[in-house]
Amino acid sequence: MRVAVIGTGYVGLVQGAAFADVNHNVTCVDKIKAKIDHLNEFCEGKRNDLPILEPDLPRLVKENYDKKRLRFTTDINEAVKEAKIIFIAVGTPANEDGSANLNHVRNVAHDIGKAMNYESETPIYKIIVTKSTVPPMTYKMVHDAIAEETKNEFDVVSNPEFLAEGRAVKDCLRPSRIVVGTSNAKAASIMDELYAPFKDREVSIMFMSNIDAEIVKYASNTYLAAQVSLTNAMANLSRELGADWRKVLEGVKKDARVGRFVYAGLGFGGSCFPKDVRELIHTMSQHRPGTADLEYVEMIVKQNEAQKELFLPRIEKYYNSIEGKKLAVWGTAFKPETDDTRESAGVHMIKELLLKGAYVSAYEPSGSEQAMFTLSLDEKIKPHLSRLSFVSDMYEAVKDAEGVVITVEWNDFRNPDFLQVKKLLKKPVIFDGKDILNPRQMKEEGFDYFSVGRPDVLGHTK
Ligand SMILES: NC(=O)c1ccc[n+]([C@@H]2O[C@H](COP(=O)([O-])OP(=O)(O)OC[C@H]3O[C@@H](n4cnc5c(N)ncnc54)[C@H](O)[C@@H]3O)[C@@H](O)[C@H]2O)c1
Repeated sequence: MRVAVIGTGYVGLVQGAAFADVNHNVTCVDKIKAKIDHLNEFCEGKRNDLPILEPDLPRLVKENYDKKRLRFTTDINEAVKEAKIIFIAVGTPANEDGSANLNHVRNVAHDIGKAMNYESETPIYKIIVTKSTVPPMTYKMVHDAIAEETKNEFDVVSNPEFLAEGRAVKDCLRPSRIVVGTSNAKAASIMDELYAPFKDREVSIMFMSNIDAEIVKYASNTYLAAQVSLTNAMANLSRELGADWRKVLEGVKKDARVGRFVYAGLGFGGSCFPKDVRELIHTMSQHRPGTADLEYVEMIVKQNEAQKELFLPRIEKYYNSIEGKKLAVWGTAFKPETDDTRESAGVHMIKELLLKGAYVSAYEPSGSEQAMFTLSLDEKIKPHLSRLSFVSDMYEAVKDAEGVVITVEWNDFRNPDFLQVKKLLKKPVIFDGKDILNPRQMKEEGFDYFSVGRPDVLGHTK
């Protein structure tokens, strides 16, 4: 089947390559020429990296490009003309008030409508699929925007994406489920054909209305975000009472009804949970104002924002003041196996430390580009950037620092060479924002150690 995917970010690029991998003929489109050039240069062997870091994606893209099932262009007209199914996979960032900014989606819908007005001997019929995460009822907006531009026949299908960064290729090749929202039998049957190869992988395809499908995505992410905030609330209580959340968990997790997001941390980040829960709050405030339901969802965000602030007061208390002191930060991606730093605990931590007058030496295994870009856009941070250095080695980062803050559970940080870390640090102090180290070992190694869900350890300052 001929497919066009508009937007080649974390979702569009991976999903486009996954469709090509099951033998569809895919054209990926982006408005950023530099991105398309980058992708083409990678495929032609002129460079080694893709615009995003995602395990196994380079192989998937290259193999399917070589088999001529995947190509990249900025020409949306050509892509729409050739395709039967057109996916919209552009960004839907949050507006100031928490609502989703649908400008990219709207613009693409208009562009698709215009591109459908080509000469054809046979009647033109297309399926336009929203893959982007969009608020309930957006399918109507997409429909109206396309209808403003063309008289040709089309249907709008809502097909939310559930991939998780860091395992996006696995998720797209074998999705947990495929949700197809349409009330139109013809569109449903074509979507069934598109996804047929996934049925052989025992993936269930669920058909429902557009509005059902749109809400599935928000409900799923809100369930997961609620688990994270509840986990952190329980971990904080454990620490305060001198209990070890990891031990408590051993008991809690035995109940199969308890979810997966049970490890304590510095709150959820990334490009999805924070913005999607805020968008749900925006939708709820319109349709369920003044209800406990709304307050309940609001509390998820409130707890998460408080969780992000968990370490700074404890760091300041420990040092009395951090002004002029150098601290190391390990990790700026919002989770391991991705380079995405959107709403990450690491970037947040760097900002807080810089604003308090500290010098920061940071290391991120996936590279410093994204974090530096985000930080350089922040007007409040700009004047402090001279006190930030990114280094390309985790041990170099801790050299002459007063302590190290871990914000992501990259494998490198789980079992560092403690002897070396201790030798390089000015003072052996670790703030572990992901509870990945062992407090007993920290005491034995002679570190002062602070975590999220375990009592403080004073292995150095006895
Ligand atoms: N990242 C995730 O883990 C994830 C998971 C599930 C769903 N989603 C949702 O999928 C959508 C895309 O997310 P993402 O992380 O891939 O975003 P992204 O910002 O990484 O990529 C979006 C791409 O769309 C392109 N674009 C914007 N306007 C365009 C236009 N008019 N024409 C062509 N290209 C255009 C941008 O240049 C960019 O390359 C969002 O709605 C997001 O909420 C994301």
